[in-house]
Amino acid sequence: MIKIAPSILSADFSKLGEEVIQISKAGADYIHIDVMDGNFVPNITFGPAVIKSIRDKSDKIFDVHLMIDAPERYLQNFYDAGADIITVHVEATKHLHRTIQMIKSLGIKAGVSINPATPVEMIKYVLSEIDMVLVMSVNPGFGGQKFINSSLEKIKEIRTLSKTIDIQVDGGINKDTIKQCISAGANIFVAGSYIFSGDYKERINSLKEV
Ligand code: DX5
Ligand code: ZN
Repeated sequence: MIKIAPSILSADFSKLGEEVIQISKAGADYIHIDVMDGNFVPNITFGPAVIKSIRDKSDKIFDVHLMIDAPERYLQNFYDAGADIITVHVEATKHLHRTIQMIKSLGIKAGVSINPATPVEMIKYVLSEIDMVLVMSVNPGFGGQKFINSSLEKIKEIRTLSKTIDIQVDGGINKDTIKQCISAGANIFVAGSYIFSGDYKERINSLKEV
C-alpha cells in the first residue's frame, strides 16, 4: 500500500489550519511539514510554534522534514510540537547515528534524508536503526521543481538493501513520476504543488490510483 503525504509548503499560509483540515479530509495519509532554516537550504519556513498551532486540526501523522543545520538541537521542540516522524538530513548533522538515537529515544519514528548528490552509501550503516529513508528528488528548499531522474536508481539501491524500510520520495511528484518511483520500490510520496494546484481529493486520488 502506498501512502500520500501532501506537503503544506504549497498550502495557503494565511489559512494554514483550514488547509490542514481540508487536506486531511481529502485523503492525506501523512501531513508533510517542511521546516527550513535559511542556512541548510536557501529558504525559511516555520518552526515548532506553527506546527503546534495546527496539531489539533488533524489526526493524521505529522511527518516533519527538518531542512536545518544541526537538527539535534531542536528534536525535543519538534516532538513537543506534535511530530510523529522526524526526518533529518545526513548532510546536516555531524553525528548521524547519535541524532537518530535521540529521535528514537523520544518514542517516535526516525527518518534520514539524502540530497540528490548524496550517495546511498552515506546511510548504509544506519539503515537498520531507522524507520524511513527520504530520497530528495529535487534540491531541497522550494516546491514546484522538476523531478531529478537519478533518484530512481537510488530508490532501487535502497530497496535492494532493505525489503521492509519505508522509502519516501520528495520533490517533483505527480501522476507520471510517482509511477516510476513505485516501480523503483518507493512507498511513501510527498507532493506539494501537484496536490495544492487542483482539487485536493481528486489530486490525491489520482496519485493513489497509480
Ligand atoms: C522541498 C520540500 C518538498 C516540497 C515538494 O524542499 O522538501 O516537500 O514541498 O514540493 P513539490 O511537490 O512541489 O516538488
Ligand atoms: Zn519535504
